[in-house]
Amino acid sequence: MRKPFKSETWPYSPKPTAQPSVKQCPSTKQSFEPTTLRPLMYHPIVQGTGDKLTVLITREQIAAKVVEMGVRITTDFAGQSVVLIGVLRGAAIFLADLARQIDLDVSFDFIAVSSYGNSKQSGEIKLIKDVDDSLEGRNVILVEDILDTGITLTYIRKLLLARQPRAFKVAALLDKVAARKVPAQADYVGFQIPDQFVVGYGLDFGQRYRNLPHVCIMETHSDGN
Ligand code: IMP
Ligand code: MG
Repeated sequence: MRKPFKSETWPYSPKPTAQPSVKQCPSTKQSFEPTTLRPLMYHPIVQGTGDKLTVLITREQIAAKVVEMGVRITTDFAGQSVVLIGVLRGAAIFLADLARQIDLDVSFDFIAVSSYGNSKQSGEIKLIKDVDDSLEGRNVILVEDILDTGITLTYIRKLLLARQPRAFKVAALLDKVAARKVPAQADYVGFQIPDQFVVGYGLDFGQRYRNLPHVCIMETHSDGN
């Protein structure tokens, strides 16, 4: 594990900051405290799309769960290094948050596979971007936004196990257990959710909504354009 730099005080304790002042959301003129959430209906990107979203898991619930997952990983791999492999693009936000809750020597790599639409119909997955580094002898944690049919994970697991990592674990923020078409399981699961289409916190609908801070159910939607 990395030793703290000489000038570093550890554990790091930030100085208390001044209380934030109340601000106005430019799109709605609604007042809000910068540290609290705007109601979802005032989020600028939802306005005018025709999409109806309802919050399933709040930003605060996600944050608390990510801390828990980070602590578990830190404990399980105590004294070792891990490589987090994010499945692009949906896992980017989860990976960024999870990594900062893991108190170990951590490195990142990324993999990308073909789009959801095709795989759900045919079960076919195409590799778009492979990992950059060798995984031989390393502790690999694959970081996924969501487990749905399990087809993507099955493909990636087989591909990466062939690279002979020392350990191979899967961390998935969300798990739609009822949607499985092939057996697949994560070692670290954030939330089990119903078999409904969700967006936010990295998950998209037509590349939109990845930046929503909560996970939301998409109840009705426009045509995706
Ligand atoms: P699987 O191969 O069916 O398990 O699908 C995994 C991938 O499908 C995830 O990495 C997501 O990109 C995508 N996906 C599955 N369910 C949803 C959803 O409800 N919203 C957005 N993307 C989803
Ligand atoms: Mg994905």
